[in-house]
Amino acid sequence: MRKVLLCVAVLFAFNSVAVAAAPQPLPKGYAAWQKSERKVVTDKKSLFYGIHYIYADKKAMQGYKAGNRFPEGSRIVVEFFNIKDNPAVDGPKNMVVLMRKDKKRTETGGWLFAGFGSDGKPSGIDPVKNCFDCHLKDAARKDYVISTIQDFKR
Ligand code: HEC
Repeated sequence: MRKVLLCVAVLFAFNSVAVAAAPQPLPKGYAAWQKSERKVVTDKKSLFYGIHYIYADKKAMQGYKAGNRFPEGSRIVVEFFNIKDNPAVDGPKNMVVLMRKDKKRTETGGWLFAGFGSDGKPSGIDPVKNCFDCHLKDAARKDYVISTIQDFKR
């Protein structure tokens, strides 16, 4: 019995390491998903300072339409751009973030959170400290998704 338990524990540990270590690629083709309105944040103190667009795949759109109840596998991407001189023009891209509904990610509300540089490479951000806390605070009752269907009405 002991041996079995040990085995299970080792397997479990191995599994979580594998999950944490595997860098998540940015989904290809997200530019063709449903795109939000253009969002401009001119408050320099905000983390969202700059311009951003939200992209939602088909499942995520179902989730928004259901009042932020997202089916497993839903994917949402946000692209961020700097403001150069004129806020009416997108400056250089500076960051991309991803949420994917994944029931294995119990630590972060059943969502995978991942951050990427402007080149699309994983930025190695800690999803709990650097992402989830904020989404938990602002959207615990909205399946941790802060935007709503209103953001897609263009
Ligand atoms: C300071 C708080 C804060 C932090 C930290 C944060 N976010 Fe967000 N996030 C927001 C807000 C606010 C929005 C809504 C933006 C909008 O409606 O235009 C958002 C939107 C998103 C969205 C679009 C879906 C949604 O919830 O509206 C994704 C995907 C996302 N964030 C991923 C991440 C990832 C990945 C990280 C960590 C790298 C992260 N966020 C860190 C506040 C935060």
